[in-house]
Parts: sequence; C-alpha cells; structure tokens
Amino acid sequence: MSETTNPRARHQDLVQQIEEHRARYYGDDAPTISDAAYDALEVELRELEAEHPELAEPDSPTQTVGSARAETGFASVQHRERMMSLDNAFSIDEVEAWLLRVAREVGEQEVVCEPKIDGLSISLTYVDGELTRGVTRGDGTTGEDVTANVRTIASIPARLAGDHVPALVEVRGEVFLPVAAFEQLNDRLRAEGKDPYANPRNTAAGSLRQKDSAVTAQRPLDVTTYALGALEWGPQGADARAETQAGVYALLEQWGLPVSAHVKTLSGVAAIDDYLGDLEQRRHDLIHEIDGAVLKVNSRAVQAQLGSTSRAPRWAVAYKFPPEEVHTVLEDIRVDVGRTGRVTPYGVMTPVTVAGSTVTFATLHNKHEVKRKGVLIGDTVVLRKAGDVIPEIVGPVVAARTGNETEWQMPEGCPSCGMALVEQRQGDKDMRCPNARACPAQIIDRIAFIGGRGALDIEVLGEKAAAALVAEGVLENEAGLFSLTEDDLTGVSLFTLDADSKKDGVERKAGDLSTNGARLLENLQAAKTQDLWRVLVSLSIRHVGPTASRALAGALGSIPAIRAASEAELAAVDGVGPTIADSIRRWFEVDWHCDIVDQWAAAGVRMEEERDESIPQTLAGLTVVATGSLEGFTRDSVKEAIHARGGKASSSVSKKTDFVVVGENAGSKATKAEELGLPVLDVEGFRNLLEHGPEGL
Ligand code: IVH
Repeated sequence: MSETTNPRARHQDLVQQIEEHRARYYGDDAPTISDAAYDALEVELRELEAEHPELAEPDSPTQTVGSARAETGFASVQHRERMMSLDNAFSIDEVEAWLLRVAREVGEQEVVCEPKIDGLSISLTYVDGELTRGVTRGDGTTGEDVTANVRTIASIPARLAGDHVPALVEVRGEVFLPVAAFEQLNDRLRAEGKDPYANPRNTAAGSLRQKDSAVTAQRPLDVTTYALGALEWGPQGADARAETQAGVYALLEQWGLPVSAHVKTLSGVAAIDDYLGDLEQRRHDLIHEIDGAVLKVNSRAVQAQLGSTSRAPRWAVAYKFPPEEVHTVLEDIRVDVGRTGRVTPYGVMTPVTVAGSTVTFATLHNKHEVKRKGVLIGDTVVLRKAGDVIPEIVGPVVAARTGNETEWQMPEGCPSCGMALVEQRQGDKDMRCPNARACPAQIIDRIAFIGGRGALDIEVLGEKAAAALVAEGVLENEAGLFSLTEDDLTGVSLFTLDADSKKDGVERKAGDLSTNGARLLENLQAAKTQDLWRVLVSLSIRHVGPTASRALAGALGSIPAIRAASEAELAAVDGVGPTIADSIRRWFEVDWHCDIVDQWAAAGVRMEEERDESIPQTLAGLTVVATGSLEGFTRDSVKEAIHARGGKASSSVSKKTDFVVVGENAGSKATKAEELGLPVLDVEGFRNLLEHGPEGL
C-alpha cells in the first residue's frame, strides 16, 4: 500500500489508525481489529519510517508505549521507572537476527525464555515490604491507579516475604484471567441469558479497571511477575542483589510473588527454536492464554549495557506465535442438509489464514447459535482456530459495523427439496427436513456416509460419487447400492472414460467403465462382508452410531433379530437405552427402510455376525445374563462367547432368562435372579455351559 500512496500520507494514516486502535485496546477494552492485524500496522509503520527517517517524529507510535488517549477516570500515577514495551519477532529468523545483533555488541549471551502472557501489565510498588500501589502501564510514564482493585487479587501478597526485602521496589508483571475461570464466567453469563465476553484478556482488562473493586473481587484474576522497575535496597538486603534475570525470578519467588513455571535459560538459536516450538505445542495447556514467548538476555549487567530505545529494551524481544484469532468478513450464511435431515447453518467467510490453515467455512450449528452469537451477514467477525479444534466464529466486531449488515433468517423450506422444515420434537434446537425418503441432499449424504470410515469404509464412494449416482438417476436411494452393476455405472459420466485409451495393452473406448468405476464395484463387493456393526451404522438410524451398533450386533447377533426385537428387549441391551430402542423400533416401522435392508440382504450384504462353523451351537435358543466381573472374561467377550454358541446375551433379568451368570461384585441382577428362582452359575458353571450346553451342568 505504501508504494501506491505518498509516503507522508500513508504515514499519517497509519499513525492515526494505530493511535485509534491503541486507545480502544487500552481504553475501553473493545478492540476492533485482531492483534495480528494490529501488529501488521506497526510493522508497516516501522518499515516506512526506516525508508523515510524524516517521517519518524519522537511521538510516533514506533517510539511510544500504550495510549495517552485512553479515557480513564482513575487517578494518574507516575512510574518511578518507565514501563516499556517489547519489540516483536514473527519468525525464528527474526529471533536469530536479534541474537546476532546482541552478540555483535556484547558477545554471545545466555537467554532467559518464558511465556508471553496475554494479559495486561501492572506495576506493583512495595515500600518496606508493604504493597502501597498497583498501577497500569498507561503510556509507560504514567498509568492508572488501580490499587484498590489490585488488592483483591489473591495471588498478590500484601506484604513481601523473606529476609531480603528492599526499602522500595516496583515489581512488574501481567494480570490475567485464567482460561478455566474465563470459560466458567462465560458459561454462567450464557445460562443467565447474557452476552459472553470475547476473550480472557479483554475480560481481565475490564475487570481490573472496574470502578467498584467489589466487582473486581468477584473475578478470579491472577498475576505472573517478570521484571523489576525502580529498586532501592536499604539496609536489609544489600547481599541479595540479583545479577541475572533468572536471579530476579528467584528473588520474586522468595518474596512470595508468582513467577512463571515455564522459564528456561538457554544458549544458541537451536535450543531457543526448540523451546519456542515446544511452548507453542503446549500453549493451550497453560492456565493462561499466551501469544508468544519473551526472550531476555540473562546477565543484568549486559542488559544495562545494551540499554533501551524510547519504547523497548534492546536486551529483550517478544516472539509472537501465528495468530489463532483473526478478523474476516462473514459474506454469507448458508445451510447444509445432513444425512439425518438436520439443517445446519454455516458461515461463508472471506478466506483467511488462521493457525496455519486457510479457512472459508465454519459451522454455526443452529439458528439459536446464530442468534446467540449475534452475527449479521456482512459483519467483520472474529474467527478462532485454537490448536486442533475446528474453526469457530466467535462473534461480530460490533464497532466495525457500517449499517449495511443484514440479519440472516433460517429458511422455512429445505434448500434441497423445498419441504417445510420442522422441529423433530417440540423445543428441539435443530430444524430438520422431514423428507428423508426423497430429499436429494439427505440421500446423497446417507450414501456418502456409507462409504465413510466410520461405516463400511468404501474407497471411491464419497460425496462426489454419491451425488453423481443420484443425479444421473442410477440410484434412487441407498437400497440399490449393493446391486449396482457395470451397466449401471456406465450410465454415470463420473465412472466412464472420456476418450479412447489403452491400459496394460487393453484397448478401451470412450464410455467404457473407468478404473475408478471398476474400483467402486470391487469395493462394494468387498464391503458386503464387513462386520455386522458397520452394516448397522450404515443404515443411518438416528442415535445408532458405532457404540450402539457394536452393542446391538454383540447382543442380538443379526439384523433380523434386531428387527424382530421388542422395544424392551432392545433397551435391555447394554449401552442401548430407551431413546435408541425407540428410534430403532420406529425406523423398522417404515416400509422403505425395510426395503433397504431387504435389498441389501438380497445383494449379499452381511446380516448376521460371522459364525465360526467349528463352534458347536450349545446355547441355541437360550438367553443368558452375565453380571459382575468374571475371571478370564471382559464384558464384551462374555457376550461374544454367548453369541458364538447361538445364544442371546441380555443385560436384564426377567422370567424369560434361562441362566444368570454371577461374578464378583454382582449387584441387583443377582438378587433378582434369586427372587425369580432362576438357575445361577458361577464362572466355572458358565464355562461348562459354553462347552456342553445345559446338559453339561
Ligand atoms: S517483559 C522491559 N515478560 O508484553 C520488559 N513482558 O508486548 C518489559 N508481557 O508490556 C516486559 N508476558 O505487558 C515481559 N514474560 C513477559 C511478558 C511480558 C507478557 C507483556 C507486557 C509487555 C508486553 C509487550
């Protein structure tokens, strides 16, 4: 940008923007741009001034700290020693450049590495060991007197401990709100129907700058200390002088002040690089948010030798992690229809890089979430991608609104088939398309789901293939999937050759089945013999995922048995409650659902647990309940053993139960078995039963 406009105008523009953003950040705690975008403005200004030194006035933001503009309302207090900011490094190369600069001037140095806490800086004055003042950084020279609020922070001692207490000291540190406390606070606000806070830093800043310290006291603020300002030893501690930065931390600790548990003294760029990589990996395991690391020359004598610029020490540098929160524009909100008919709104954003990946879409879950987040189409939004967590639209940047934003409405009809959307049950958060049988989006998603890893794991059968099979009329729904023939597939352009070709000496003509098409047929064939639970998952019965499917396959052994089971019998299966049982019963009441099962069965898809023919069917027709822990068996292997021998494993005792196996620590089922007068076996008896059947007992 600086190339196209005149440098002086761009300079003025940048200064103005930076000052405005600083006033917001330090003043009313409601920034309108992300930290990363702000850093980029500062970098541009710095580079512009390097090219055009005549533009760099002493009051340029490159030379100053914080904001002199921020409205306060607190008494101003002058710091005895200036509170400085830090220069930033955005890559290991920039860190190395700093190390080289230091080495050139004062020789190679040990460096103290520590987390850069994303909070707000504070200066705590202790006179003869008594806390007399707590002051914010302000513009570095003068800050706000927040002593009353600082006194409410539990980890800040009112009196310094130990034998070596100075006559006067300014302790510098960072006040923060622990992430866990922030989340709790937001959960509570949401439960009360109030707006949650944007992030821990702004919440901490808002909390510390409360007019009423009783409000501050309710926020579990914490502090980490990391530097000394003015220091007068007095008679008490002349021998306790800290000669290194690490020694400063020992001293702070001795005084009872919290210091970071993640400080390391290192030498050389390789070790520092390792530290930074490791810290970034663990950034979410710390109790507070961090946005990077701070590197400080260890020797205090060398620190003094290197000195400072007007705003930052030369002996320290802040290494910034790639941002996890960025701003982008919410261009649209669209809805997606899933395989269960659930209609999910999602945001379409101007593509943006966050935590190393480019993000364009992010789910908004349901219409209530859209409302709760308060986002409008056209809003600048905060997008967050923390670690491996999926990207999330945090909320709008309200202050950046232009008035051209529009409210999004949940569509009344299904975007795929047009059917009116409904709440599955009254009060459900989700809206659903009830047209499971004919809605193309649902059918395509169900077919693609069958190909997925959690179901039958069929390579080639993804979203694209499913859409082509449906769109080109080869499949009406999933019922015909396993009866597809080569003829069928040559009717789908995705699976045919575009032009004549030759492969492995074989002439192939345009329109012939492609390699991909042939693979789909092979893979479908192979999928027919996958485990029974995977077949069950593939039916897309609501609530019947892998866990319930495994339990059902284990307990009942076949799809016909599941289909024939009563709701009570289903609900009695371990891991299958009444909700799942009800959902299964209802599913099998629908004719076209049964047709899917029948067509799959006719095509040779597995309908029964595999039987090992060599195992005698000693338990055929018998229902066995096992309870308590049985030596040599797990809960699952008990059931497997029963099924393998043709029996039925149930988890509830009733008059229909043939045998109850009672192990150690058995509970009410054992009692009930006795009440009903059922035959009770111990583990030895059970082994006997498995081997020889009832006759063996
Ligand atoms: S040392 C003279 N150490 O980052 C050196 N600062 O971007 C003063 N910060 O104003 C700072 N963690 O508010 C230091 N471990 C740490 C820090 C830290 C967070 C803050 C501090 C400073 C800002 C500069």
